[in-house]
Amino acid sequence: MSSLASPHGTKGAATGAVARAAAITAPGIGLRPTGGPLGAEITDVDLRNIDDATFDAIHQAWLDNLVLLVRGQHLSDEDLIAFSRRFGALDHAPIQENGRRFVDGYPEIYVVSNVIENGVAIGSLGAGEAVWHTDMSYLPDPPKASMLYALEVPPTGGDTSFSNMYLAHDTLPADLRARVAGLMLKHDGTYNSGNFVRQGVTPTDDPRLSVGTPHPVICTHPGTGRRMLYLGRRRNAYLMGLDLAESEALLDALWEHAQRPELVWTHRWRVGDLVLWDNRCTMHRRDPFDPACRRVMHRTQIKGEAPPAI
Ligand code: SIN
Repeated sequence: MSSLASPHGTKGAATGAVARAAAITAPGIGLRPTGGPLGAEITDVDLRNIDDATFDAIHQAWLDNLVLLVRGQHLSDEDLIAFSRRFGALDHAPIQENGRRFVDGYPEIYVVSNVIENGVAIGSLGAGEAVWHTDMSYLPDPPKASMLYALEVPPTGGDTSFSNMYLAHDTLPADLRARVAGLMLKHDGTYNSGNFVRQGVTPTDDPRLSVGTPHPVICTHPGTGRRMLYLGRRRNAYLMGLDLAESEALLDALWEHAQRPELVWTHRWRVGDLVLWDNRCTMHRRDPFDPACRRVMHRTQIKGEAPPAI
């Protein structure tokens, strides 16, 4: 992964950038693309107080840039939910590994944290790597967007990377694209991205038998009409109807392509950062960090309007 530093303290891939709007998006706020293959920073905005014109500009910037970063926010859980709801109805948080579901009183908020309080983990995913994934794609109708808000961050580590799945589709070798076009891919519901078994699931490592939902490998984005590769996560993935060895070989080729550094931009967190991603045309992963340090993030998930489709 490239470590090219951008002026605003994030790092992104040096090549493979796609043309994205760099214009001011609404009176008084700014838009600064990362210089990588996806992502832009929205500047000069307080997400607690935005009017409809500003929201429309942010919404368009999100569709154009796939991932938006807004720094220096001071959001309560109510504020995070209120801003998230401007994009649509919210999904409830997935059940955490420890059986807890959400922040008390806020079923929409998923806690991503390694912190243990009174012997109980307050959130999910621990301090290890969170592998490449799309949020909740094991469901029939996965969220269209997620927002992650940083409350506490470690001094180093815990960076989150995003990959551009439009670009992954557009740069897929023609023979591989032809081979997977029209195939359905089962998105596994056994393991989360920290490789923890989800609550209530009987674990299996046979991808033909595991719980999950099949979606087309190549989908069309309902908001932009663009084609994208839709992979979910690698573990226990299965190309429906294929011999297991053939499915594994094709998936290995797709994943090798989808993880190329030129598709990726990486964000280094500060407290008060809000990152919003389009969950349909991106994947993300998180670096491990020192388990002795605290990292506390609150996430919302915005409901999809339609299941992933060709
Ligand atoms: C997530 O996968 O939603 C969390 C990513 C992170 O912890 O940065």
